[in-house]
Amino acid sequence: MPELAELADIGLDLRVQDSVATVTLNRPGRRNAMTPSLWLGLAEVGRALPEQVRIVVVRGAGPSFCAGIDLRLFTAEGVPGEDFRLDPADDGFDEILASWQAGFTWLRDPRFVSIAAVQGHALGAGFQLALACDLRVLADNAKLCMKEPALGLVPDLTGTKPLVEIVGLPRATELCLTARTVAAAEALELRLAEVVVPEAELEAAVGDLVAALLGTDPAAARATKALLAQARANTLEQQAAAERKAQRSLLAARQR
Ligand code: ACO
Repeated sequence: MPELAELADIGLDLRVQDSVATVTLNRPGRRNAMTPSLWLGLAEVGRALPEQVRIVVVRGAGPSFCAGIDLRLFTAEGVPGEDFRLDPADDGFDEILASWQAGFTWLRDPRFVSIAAVQGHALGAGFQLALACDLRVLADNAKLCMKEPALGLVPDLTGTKPLVEIVGLPRATELCLTARTVAAAEALELRLAEVVVPEAELEAAVGDLVAALLGTDPAAARATKALLAQARANTLEQQAAAERKAQRSLLAARQR
């Protein structure tokens, strides 16, 4: 596991209790604005999670889930200790960006179900982090915004695919190209939230969801998540074959 003190230095807190890991963005004074070090740290957390973890909760300390990238990175002063060179002429451009994206993609691992617990703002990279999770529980004060195009950027932290899959191409286009803010009630309508609860009940609502998810057989849960993840890309025949294969290996594992 990554050293907790090192994670604290990059604004992350990790707690693992039995089969539940809780990852907290922990720079509330900056509304949990994120840096490349934090994205690399998130990827490290994903690689190092113990095998017994079945649920990953991603939350933000303080009033906002996450205000997106730390805007100081775009200033001459930058953020102390952060190397934020992204030169399109650099041969390493692709590799660097891929290493940051890895801080998001691990949340889709079939080993566990990831849940974003979102209060207040989830902007830009923060919205993409919420989209990287399997499920989203929103407080009624949540505000989501894909702000990158308004800043002259594309959303590049793996958020475009889940956004299109959840809300559809026309709505994703409208949301990104207007960079407008979506409040919790609309987020629920657009299926960007599984549930919206009063802010004071966010933790309890996530706890209830975690308890319900943990009630399912662990091996069946993992195999089913892997199966569902392929469904959209597969033809019906391919998916039917995948179901047969998954069932066979699940039953065979149980016989051993
Ligand atoms: N980067 C760096 N610092 C930030 C960021 C950020 N993204 N967001 C907030 N902060 C800092 C503020 O500068 C302020 O610092 P200070 O106390 O030293 O003045 C502190 O966090 C609190 O911010 P407030 O604006 O006072 O908090 P409030 O709750 O009123 O508003 C909000 C929160 C709406 C998130 C606002 O701070 C904001 O609009 N932030 C910028 C959001 C943004 O544009 N992010 C980039 C998205 S694009 C991408 O992620 C690629």
